[in-house]
Amino acid sequence: MSPIPAIKKAAAEATELRRQLHRIPELQYQEHQTASFIRQRLDELKIPYLAGVNEAPTATIATIGNLAKPCIALRADIDALPIEEQTGAAWASTHRHVMHACGHDGHTAALLGAAEVLKQLENELDVCVKLIFQPAEEGGGGGRVLVQQGVLDGRLGPKVEAIFGLHGWPILPIGMVSTRAGALLAAMDQIRITIRGQGGHAAFPHLTHDPVVASAMAILGLQSIVSRQTDPTDSLVISIAQIQAGTAHNVIPDECTFSGTVRTVDRDLRRSVPAMIRQRMEGIAAAHGCQATLDWIDGYPIVMNDPAMSDLVARVAGQSLGEGQFIPAARPSMGGEDFAFYLEKIPGCFFMVGLCPPSETAPALLHTNRFDFNDQALPACIGMHVGLVLGYKR
Ligand code: NI
Repeated sequence: MSPIPAIKKAAAEATELRRQLHRIPELQYQEHQTASFIRQRLDELKIPYLAGVNEAPTATIATIGNLAKPCIALRADIDALPIEEQTGAAWASTHRHVMHACGHDGHTAALLGAAEVLKQLENELDVCVKLIFQPAEEGGGGGRVLVQQGVLDGRLGPKVEAIFGLHGWPILPIGMVSTRAGALLAAMDQIRITIRGQGGHAAFPHLTHDPVVASAMAILGLQSIVSRQTDPTDSLVISIAQIQAGTAHNVIPDECTFSGTVRTVDRDLRRSVPAMIRQRMEGIAAAHGCQATLDWIDGYPIVMNDPAMSDLVARVAGQSLGEGQFIPAARPSMGGEDFAFYLEKIPGCFFMVGLCPPSETAPALLHTNRFDFNDQALPACIGMHVGLVLGYKR
């Protein structure tokens, strides 16, 4: 049976599902209405599922097909962001200060659409399919929790062989697909540096060990790690985004704290950065009679696509969406995604699906109050999910 008519029908229904989800956005780990909406739809489709797992009660893990066959997983993230919506859409958020500004409503609706099609093809599938509706992508590390709880290794449903996930991409033309083998998105780690000195009267700096001047030098010094200490052809971002010190304009404080993000797309470089930062911060602090301490907080790892699974995505895009609908991503992006936690364990591929209409020259970007997932991309999203299941070979 050709899946094309079923994909068309499912895409039309998914538009309505997407708009309903858009009305009820919820923040990380609070996606209770969203989870019941997903489960109700799965009930209608007669698809069995696990409603919630330890530490992630809003996760939903569904399965389609013969569980004795090899299993591949499709993942959608379901959470929203603390932003006041300004789209003016008829289906705008009904929850104050929360909106689907990253398009996770579209990802969820597309996976529900794919579920409908795959359920009809259930007896013809060479694999069984696990559908992962994951909470808390936006900083809460829902992917890490699900991996720890056993969503891939056979403790929660069948053991998974390969995994795929997508993200709607506002600047990519509608219906196009893009990804690359290897690093696609960066690891995003957090740093917090405290420089302790000795405060005093701001008129007599020679009687203090000024942590503010030391911090100013230290913040500039961090950029020399990027420009002088790592290979120029490697990608590294160190951005300090917060500085805290002092209580009055004429009092030199005892300490200054600054924090920021470190982005890498190479695992060896990621491992070596903390020591470089520590050494430089301690040295600069010492030169000012101060001491530095570094807190390094591991964030999301690198989204590292498997080459064979990336080839499969490119092939399926050509077959399902048409020749020329795949654009290889020339280089990684320094953004991050918690899909990385799955890819640390098993092969898979994360890819972008275009949302930009042909006439649009300035599309609203992700995480902004005017962004709205373009429903016209739902057929491509559903077509990719279904095509990957049908095209997967061990
Ligand atoms: Ni997102």
